[in-house]
Amino acid sequence: MTEKANLGGAPSERNESQSDRRPDSAGASCGSPSPTTGRSEPTFDSVRSFCLHILESGDLESKLVPPKGRDGKPLVDGPGPAVFVDRPARQDHIQIRSGADRLPNLNELRDPHARSVCVERFANHELMAVELFAWALVAYPDMPPGLRRGLLHVLEEEQGHVRLYLDRLSGLGSGLGQSALSDYFWQQVPGIHASSNGPASFLCVMGLTFEQANLDFSLLYRDAFRQNGDDESARALDIVHRDEIGHVRLAARWLEKVAHAAGDDEDGDTLTRLYDEFVPFPLSAARAKGRRFEVSARKRAGLSDAFIEHVRTAKPYKPRRGGDDVAESRV
Ligand SMILES: [Fe+2]
Ligand SMILES: [Fe+2]
Repeated sequence: MTEKANLGGAPSERNESQSDRRPDSAGASCGSPSPTTGRSEPTFDSVRSFCLHILESGDLESKLVPPKGRDGKPLVDGPGPAVFVDRPARQDHIQIRSGADRLPNLNELRDPHARSVCVERFANHELMAVELFAWALVAYPDMPPGLRRGLLHVLEEEQGHVRLYLDRLSGLGSGLGQSALSDYFWQQVPGIHASSNGPASFLCVMGLTFEQANLDFSLLYRDAFRQNGDDESARALDIVHRDEIGHVRLAARWLEKVAHAAGDDEDGDTLTRLYDEFVPFPLSAARAKGRRFEVSARKRAGLSDAFIEHVRTAKPYKPRRGGDDVAESRV
């Protein structure tokens, strides 16, 4: 493997205890090869070892294994030391790197190659989401149990999104790793980890920036695929859109709780204040939307009118061209 996973411990505000794990030091997750399949059978029995399995395994199959014990029972979510991972393990052909190629225009989606380029980008976003939810669950073991259950549920839905897009890629005669894969979501990890409240910062990055933006992008591309004759891709995007509403709702509902701020803003909007306080630079509300702004999806996700308007009118720090542009801000 050529992954750059670093499983050493930068200090965590919420956790004194650090682990000095290294890729393939395993212990938690990878068992011996099965005599019948020849593949390594996962042996995790806790949320922690399941998440480390995702982060330490470079292959897609391992990252998409469901969060269940060998006997099919729910995983135990016991206490454990905080682990900081700055990069996930990835096999060579699905390695991530900085920068992103231009996405095809919407009116190019009649072309199967253009379709597969878009779907591959979406699949990589979903895979990074799987990894980052696993990251948060091992980085912040002291998060409230209800939030941890919610994040694990979201992680499983993100695995479903990866599978949806992989199926579409297969149908289009392509697969993950045909073009360069961006590390854009992972670029936000140092900022989250440096925050005075890591869980709050994580919710702002994933739920209230990337997943909120995807409320717009998923419908924009759903309609574009449909208009260009690809109903199967449109159906996948519609499923993702509906799931993302729940993911955004989870982040909004828990942000006030983890920031201990419920109801303390008499003259303003608590969600807006907390978002601006905990979203790490260079992200901002301007990255939490696409060019088509879906108010009703945001309302269904429980976002306040004031926060919706804050995002709708947000301007970027400065105009950007190329590279990791706003088209990367989606899950
Ligand atoms: Fe997703
Ligand atoms: Fe999501």
